[in-house]
Amino acid sequence: MSAVQLLGVPEMDADHRILEEMFDRLGATADADLAGLFVELDAEVRAHFTREEALIDAHDLPIAHCHKTQHALLLAEFDAARAIVADGDAAKIRRLIGVVLHELVAGHVASVDLVTSRFLAGDLGAEVFGNLRLPAE
Ligand SMILES: [Fe+2]
Repeated sequence: MSAVQLLGVPEMDADHRILEEMFDRLGATADADLAGLFVELDAEVRAHFTREEALIDAHDLPIAHCHKTQHALLLAEFDAARAIVADGDAAKIRRLIGVVLHELVAGHVASVDLVTSRFLAGDLGAEVFGNLRLPAE
């Protein structure tokens, strides 16, 4: 089983554990069930991002724009993955889920989620982000 990077924010850690357990099921998933696992993962990632963005908005996270943009980019990867899953090549789907999508999600947790958790825990104040430049709305 892969290690879940704990961030100290219970809502985030609980969601990340669920995702990690889904990725961990890949090895025991039969070729015929790979598409189903992808559909489950896709739905869970989207639901998780929705919950996390509600948490972000509730705490006025200074990097909310950056964080949500990363979520959108990750979801675009999941969107693009559908064509590979639809092609039905089991080896490609296994690499897609087990390497590409898993590493993208883990990288997200280890970067923008980590910074977000430090802000939510009070370890980083809003002043730390004083040089942040965001697109004008
Ligand atoms: Fe996130």
